[in-house]
Amino acid sequence: MEKIVIQGGQPLSGSISASGAKNAVLPIIAASIVGSGTSVIKNVPHLDDVTTMNELLIQMGVKLTVNDTTNVEICADNIDNPSAPYETVKTMRASILVLGPLLTKYGKAEVSLPGGCAIGARPVDIHLKGLEAMGAKIRVENGYIIAKSERLQGCQFYMDKVTVTGTENLLIAATLAEGETLLENCATEPEVIDLTRYLINMGAKIEGIGTSVLRITGVESLQGCEHTVIPDRIEVGTFLVAAAATGGEITIKKANPYDLESVLIKLRQAGAEISTTDDSISLKMHGKRPNPVNINTAPHPAFPTDMQAQFCTLNAIASGYSIVTENLFENRFMHINELVRMGADITVANKQAIINGVKHLNGAPTTATDLRASASLVIAGLVAKGITEIFDIHYIDRGYEVIEEKLNQLGAKIKRVTI
Ligand code: UD1
Repeated sequence: MEKIVIQGGQPLSGSISASGAKNAVLPIIAASIVGSGTSVIKNVPHLDDVTTMNELLIQMGVKLTVNDTTNVEICADNIDNPSAPYETVKTMRASILVLGPLLTKYGKAEVSLPGGCAIGARPVDIHLKGLEAMGAKIRVENGYIIAKSERLQGCQFYMDKVTVTGTENLLIAATLAEGETLLENCATEPEVIDLTRYLINMGAKIEGIGTSVLRITGVESLQGCEHTVIPDRIEVGTFLVAAAATGGEITIKKANPYDLESVLIKLRQAGAEISTTDDSISLKMHGKRPNPVNINTAPHPAFPTDMQAQFCTLNAIASGYSIVTENLFENRFMHINELVRMGADITVANKQAIINGVKHLNGAPTTATDLRASASLVIAGLVAKGITEIFDIHYIDRGYEVIEEKLNQLGAKIKRVTI
């Protein structure tokens, strides 16, 4: 087991490069199942979730090689085991993303039903209803989704809630369905757009890219292709908040400022000076204490739930009161208890965290409870007086590539220790 140890109080300064986006690469690897021949996916981040998705495909019979540090080659022509076992799905809910691809290409799939997870119940009913609307026969038996179909049929389907992986599953499924599919109330996250581009490169016919209505005309087959994954906007946002919280000055290269507008607006309100180019973002905080900023999470292009925890830490040391409202997941405030243990003044009432900024946090032993909660604790450790230890850091490794190396590059005093 490992822990992260941080000596706080060092303003971040310098520059780093963003990694490829976790939430784009996972559906893209899953979507490779629908292509014939080989796909080469570039700018793939080294993350535990990516390793899990790769292993999931390999156990199905996919030929998958990681051929240099950031490229993955995938040939899914010979899948003989179209299933996702409980052991995998329980470690990574995004495994549900193989359901649509397997069903549309192979006519059958067995995928363990994801249970609740640390941040809430997270049902997959919309994924299943959409596939049923395309003609799939689905039953849930012994904890598994067992799905079968002849060729899926195009249909019109309205998603009751905006769901990112739900949109992705149905979009991939529709690419090989017979006839036209109209998906309504789709997620418009940049990662959905990146997946759409990959599918179009493979030969899919999709209109409405980047909008909430996607019109897909099914084709007989798709061809593997080369695709470069977009930068990870949540990783970039996390480093920007860390720089703002420490009063620092950093530049992030290979970043896309257009995907992060709602976050940059909030950072400017917090007092950061931000400048951008087409592929970089610079932030200067001039050593100032942040202004408090209210946050209201909602689907893209509104403020992302995956940046909520990090802004709780920023607000925890801000010069006044703020309210952070979490609208997507019912249990996504578990970082608050840990921040309070470090001296933050925060009360949680239903969907809201009411934060009274304090002048400083104090280092403490803390425990990560989910991926983004762990990021908020790293930021808290960077600003706190004294030493902060973070346990259960496997959550961090799911979604942040070499986080301590990148932070050390920015002058932080952070190390990983075996316990
Ligand atoms: C994805 C992201 C995750 C992010 C989340 C919201 C990936 C791999 N993960 O998760 O990082 O926090 O989007 O931006 O891309 N819902 C239903 N029924 C469904 C599906 C979803 O009720 O069938 C609800 C969920 O409980 C939640 C809301 O819809 O309240 C949004 O969830 P969703 O967008 O599906 O999240 P994920 O795709 O799991």
